[in-house]
Amino acid sequence: MRTVKIFDTTLRDGEQSPGCSMNIGEKVEVAHQLEKLGVDIIEAGFASSSKGDFESVKRIAETVKEASVCSLARAVASDIKASAEALAGAADPVLHIFLSTSDLHLQSKLNKTREQALEMVEESVRYAKSFCGKIEFSAEDATRSDPDFLVEIVTAALKNGATTINIPDTVGYATPDEFRALLRYLYEHTELDKALLSVHCHNDLGLAVANSLAAIKAGASQIECTVNGIGERAGNASLEEIVMNLYTRRSEYDAVTNIDTKEIFKTSKLIQLITGVTVAPTKPVVGKNAFLHESGIHQHGVMNNPLTYEIFSPETIGVRRAGLVLGKHSGKHAFFERVRALGYSDIPEQQAEQLFTDFKNLADKKKEIHDDDIVALILKDIVSNKEHIYKLDRFVITCGDKITDVASVSLIVDGKRIENVASGDGPIDAAFNAIEKTTGRHFTLEDFHINAVTGGRDAQGTAKIRLRYGEKETRAIGISTDIIEASIFAYLNAVNFLLSME
Ligand code: KIV
Ligand code: ZN
Repeated sequence: MRTVKIFDTTLRDGEQSPGCSMNIGEKVEVAHQLEKLGVDIIEAGFASSSKGDFESVKRIAETVKEASVCSLARAVASDIKASAEALAGAADPVLHIFLSTSDLHLQSKLNKTREQALEMVEESVRYAKSFCGKIEFSAEDATRSDPDFLVEIVTAALKNGATTINIPDTVGYATPDEFRALLRYLYEHTELDKALLSVHCHNDLGLAVANSLAAIKAGASQIECTVNGIGERAGNASLEEIVMNLYTRRSEYDAVTNIDTKEIFKTSKLIQLITGVTVAPTKPVVGKNAFLHESGIHQHGVMNNPLTYEIFSPETIGVRRAGLVLGKHSGKHAFFERVRALGYSDIPEQQAEQLFTDFKNLADKKKEIHDDDIVALILKDIVSNKEHIYKLDRFVITCGDKITDVASVSLIVDGKRIENVASGDGPIDAAFNAIEKTTGRHFTLEDFHINAVTGGRDAQGTAKIRLRYGEKETRAIGISTDIIEASIFAYLNAVNFLLSME
């Protein structure tokens, strides 16, 4: 049985999708979780695209040791140099160069001839090879390229030292049969069998996973994908769907992956929490309904034998059957047993103490504590900023439909309490204005969302904001049973992060 490599591009292609941008701390956290998940390659970013991307590729390259770390570059020297520099500390670096090969892209996007494109491939791969042993070359828009020109491109990339050839279905246009035929054509007309064949499929027509699986049948041994399928437009092939297809139907594909499937659910939740982009309830593998059985006939079947309506058990992806609901009378033992059952067995002692205090505080406000609440409490610590220039002391807000909304927010700054009052268009705006007064600076709110973690009127809410201060921008999350408090936490997390960069 072959082992298919999982090349995760959540932090690059996934992060490019609207609303999915992550700050450096969050990217490092995601990279660690991807390492635990067992992905083979982490595409950490596009080093030349921004200072932030450069820094996150560098930080991830320096800290991740179990997976290869990759940075994307256009086929130009400056991009390649930036990627090589960012990857310098990586245990196993991969430099990824891409260039469009379809006539449409060459003419309308790059204004280049086929000859010029060929030269760019030769030069860029050769140049990249002087920095890094592992070079991946991607022929962007490959599925709408002339197959014979693609043969010339692949041959040139291989000749100059590419170790992986990636054939992307950039706009999600291919069908599984066509894609398989194209890959076979390339195998027949190039020396592709001497390199690693990778594919990278987008989901514009909902075929990203089907096309990736077809590619495995054609001989591909690396699949590029993202957690929850996030990515440009309709997204990329979903990592969890590909992995669970190979897991559940391994004899059909005669292939396995190195993924620890028990880490799938946790990873999906982390991405949902950090990006604020939640998956549809019917999303295969990780959707809320993926293991729910509504009809009585199905419930009866599953009670007799889960295999009647479940082709793999929820435990396989790290979901425990709904546990006991905890509450304010639950003790440390029951709480941590549940934490461990949810897959978090390595929480450091100091953090565990704080987690239990947070649980008790939450139980005072909320009658029933469900698994999702516990996961939110655990992740709250992960996503909250560690730099506390401004810390919330307390707040009072008066609001209504016929009065001006006014917030009085007291913050702890350098051990002192500073309180400011401000009005605003709604209670949250008033609170943000009061915080701004204390900081003496103006921040621009670029984006703001609130989601409930669980159902019910006493549910915890996550507030997700994108905040800009001059040229700098960051995203942050706040969690609380009170959505105004969650919003203030998110705002302070972002303010603290932006100011700590000064
Ligand atoms: O979709 C695409 O073609 C890409 C390449 C950069 C691999 O993301
Ligand atoms: Zn892509």
